[in-house]
Amino acid sequence: MINLTRGVPPVDVFPTEDLISAAERNMRADGKTVLQYVQAPGYRPLLEWLAQDNGVKPEEVFMGNSSLEIFAFLTTVLLKPGLRAFVESPSYDRANLLLQRSGAEVVPIPLEVDGVDLNAFEAELKRGAPTLFYIIADFQNPMGTTTSLAKRQKIAEWARQYNFWIVEDSPYRPLRYFGEDIPSLRELAPERVLQLSSFSKILAPGLRMGYVIGDAAVIKSVTKYANNTYIGPVTPTQGMVYEYLKAGLLPANLEKLRNLYRPRLKAMLDAIDRYLPGTTFPRPEGGFFIGVTLPEGTKMDVLLPRAAEAGLKLTDGRGFYINPAEGERFLRLPFCSLTPEEIEDAMKALQPVIYENLAVK
Ligand SMILES: Cc1ncc(COP(=O)(O)O)c(C=O)c1O
Repeated sequence: MINLTRGVPPVDVFPTEDLISAAERNMRADGKTVLQYVQAPGYRPLLEWLAQDNGVKPEEVFMGNSSLEIFAFLTTVLLKPGLRAFVESPSYDRANLLLQRSGAEVVPIPLEVDGVDLNAFEAELKRGAPTLFYIIADFQNPMGTTTSLAKRQKIAEWARQYNFWIVEDSPYRPLRYFGEDIPSLRELAPERVLQLSSFSKILAPGLRMGYVIGDAAVIKSVTKYANNTYIGPVTPTQGMVYEYLKAGLLPANLEKLRNLYRPRLKAMLDAIDRYLPGTTFPRPEGGFFIGVTLPEGTKMDVLLPRAAEAGLKLTDGRGFYINPAEGERFLRLPFCSLTPEEIEDAMKALQPVIYENLAVK
C-alpha cells in the first residue's frame, strides 16, 4: 500500500541526536523551570528568542502546543455566530473545521494559481467584511500554490481599509525548493496580520511547538484564554527547541530538508506530467503538496475504493472545500515522504485508476 494521504515528514529526517543533546542541556541548565508549571505562553527564553529572531516584542508572540491549537484559540477568541470568516477554497481541512466550529459564517473564496480570486474577494467584502481571512500564502495546503506579491499587496490594503485580521498560516514558508521568497503578509501589513509558524515541518511534528506573531492585544487575549484552558503549554519541548535554536542548528536542518524534498517535488511534477494527462495542477516551488484537479466525471466515492484496490491510499478531496461537492475531482498529492522511485510507482499505479476504471478519457 502506498500512502498518499498524509502531509507528514519522513521519519528519517528527524535530527534525533541533536534534539537529545538539546534536551539534555536544557534539562541540566533549567530543569527546575521547565518541569514546573509555566504560565502561558510558556518558556520565557524561547519567547524572547523568537521575538528577537522575528524583530518583534515578546508581548507580540504567543507560543502553544502546535500551530493548529493556536488557530483553535484564535477562532475561539475572535469569532462567534453572526461574524464572517473568509477562507481560500480549497484550504487545509482542519482549519476549515475549526472555522466552522466557531459558528461564524465561513465564506470560501476560490483559489487561483497565484492566490485567491480578487474579484470574488471584493464582491464578498462588499457583502460584509470578515473578522478574519485565513490564508496559507506560501505553498498552500492542499494546492501548493503561492500568493503573488500583487495579490498580497491588495489583500493587505483591504485588511487596513476594512479592518479585518489576516491569519497567515506559514508552516511551509521556510521550505522553498525553487525560486525566490515573496514578502510575507506580515511584512506588508504587520498591524493587521497574525502570522502562525510551526516547528512541525521544519524540525519534528511530535514536539507540538507552534507560535503566532501579531497584535499585542490579540496575543494578550489568546494568552488569557490559554491560561484558563491549561495553565501553560508543555515546556520541556519548548526548552529543547530553545537549546536547538540557540545552538544555531536550524539553518543546516532546513538546508538538508530542502535538498531532500527538491528532487521529490520534481519527481512528482514529472510523474503527473507523464501519467495524468488532462488534469490541471499548479507547479509549486516548495512545501509538501500538489493539488490536482482530475478529469471531468471523476467521482470520489468511486475513485477512493478503486485506488485502494490498486494499493493506493488517497485523501478524500471533498474535505478541503467548505462546499464538499466542489472537491469531487480534487486530489491532494503529498510528495515529501516518498522517494522519487515510490512517487513513480504511485503515479504509475494511479493512472489506470483514473483513466481506465472510471472510463474517463
Ligand atoms: C496549513 C497548515 N497549518 C497547520 C498545520 C498543523 O501544524 P501543527 O503541527 O503546528 O499544528 C498543518 C499541518 O499539516 C498545515 O498544513
